[in-house]
Amino acid sequence: MESIRIGLLGLGTVGCGTVDILQRNREVLHGRLGTTIEIVRAADLDLKRSRPVELPGEILTRDPWEVVKDPEVQIVVELIGGIEPARSLILEAFDQGKHVVTANKALLSAHWSELAGKADERGVSFGFEGSVGGGIPLIRAIKLGLVANRIRSVTGIINGTCNYILTRMHREAKAFEEVLEEAQARGFAEADPALDVEGVDAAQKLAVLINLCFNAPVSHEDILHRGITELTPADLEMAGEFGFRVKLLASATHVGDKVEAWVSPALVPDWHPLATVDGVFNAVYIQDDNVGPSLYYGRGAGDLPTGSAVVSDIVSCARDILSGAVGRVPVGGFHPDVGKPDQVMLGNDTVSEFYVRMAAADSPGVLSTISGVLGRNGISIASVIQKGREPVRGGGVPIVMITHEASYSRMTAAIEEIDAQDVVLGDSFLMRIFSEPQAP
Ligand code: HSE
Repeated sequence: MESIRIGLLGLGTVGCGTVDILQRNREVLHGRLGTTIEIVRAADLDLKRSRPVELPGEILTRDPWEVVKDPEVQIVVELIGGIEPARSLILEAFDQGKHVVTANKALLSAHWSELAGKADERGVSFGFEGSVGGGIPLIRAIKLGLVANRIRSVTGIINGTCNYILTRMHREAKAFEEVLEEAQARGFAEADPALDVEGVDAAQKLAVLINLCFNAPVSHEDILHRGITELTPADLEMAGEFGFRVKLLASATHVGDKVEAWVSPALVPDWHPLATVDGVFNAVYIQDDNVGPSLYYGRGAGDLPTGSAVVSDIVSCARDILSGAVGRVPVGGFHPDVGKPDQVMLGNDTVSEFYVRMAAADSPGVLSTISGVLGRNGISIASVIQKGREPVRGGGVPIVMITHEASYSRMTAAIEEIDAQDVVLGDSFLMRIFSEPQAP
């Protein structure tokens, strides 16, 4: 049987992990596929940098277009990241009838309809298992394993950097800034961590999941997202006293005629499986109408975990080529000819319970002022903690409340009113409380 010939774009962390797996596990891959996978071209802007893997000099180039246009290459593996030139290179590969594998969540989130549409139209395979949850075989679970089911909700811890920072803040009672600096020094966080800690990376991944689970073409910009920068060790401690762990959650739930989606720090009951996902690990919790809950857990980033997902896509494309059954599974998991269900719209006004941290003057009547505002907005208080009389940043003593269920818009309106009261000093801080979606 002829070998399968691939071309790699990008020899960074994931590119090198992919090469390492293809070389080290050559035998096992041969056993599973029945033929070998050959890297026949590879492009990277910097060919002088020392790398943990070796490739023959004659296949290397600085020009990614050479790889895409090389007639030898059957599968293009895009690991450059970012929007351009990745988008144009992938579209050109589709136009040439080549199959494409990518781990580029930013690109998928921004150009989902264009890319998925073109791949389906050209009848080529397009794999993106590495784009969400790194090495966790999640995309395939949604597209194939859960194909029989209506998905009600998908909730994930899908940013390893934030989960690592929150885990250390929780265990060591350290401030966000201190843990972030240490994480950067140890190479666990990017030099510019803004996309991670502000929730953008998680929103990009959630957009991919929403497309797959609900057939809803959304971009991360449509999703209300907040990060973890305002969290303090005291929030984590208070959450603990109420019986919760704080996690950066990305969540989408099918409610009535909408998909309600958000990325936000949230309180997870400490008995829930998501509460125990710590460090750089990721987990995605799906609720559907037949299995009920299912949980997908593993390393969400890194050369070998993400390389594993990339190689799984390469093997899947190779099997399609060998069997002549390319295009059997639609790129987004839904058949493109059937169209989008009209009822899928994106909302961000999810009803949940909330955690509110306020800084208020330490004087009589403050609690009744705050509870009065909440009451006028139809929000009922479940519990309150006022911890000591030590002033917090900006002055005032910390008051933390847990509310009963309220819509996000009602809650933010009430917080605006609370922050305008003379007895409230500084901005209040809000987190959602995660709960299992109810069956419709
Ligand atoms: N920056 C991402 C994270 C890894 O921290 O999870 C790649 O998706």
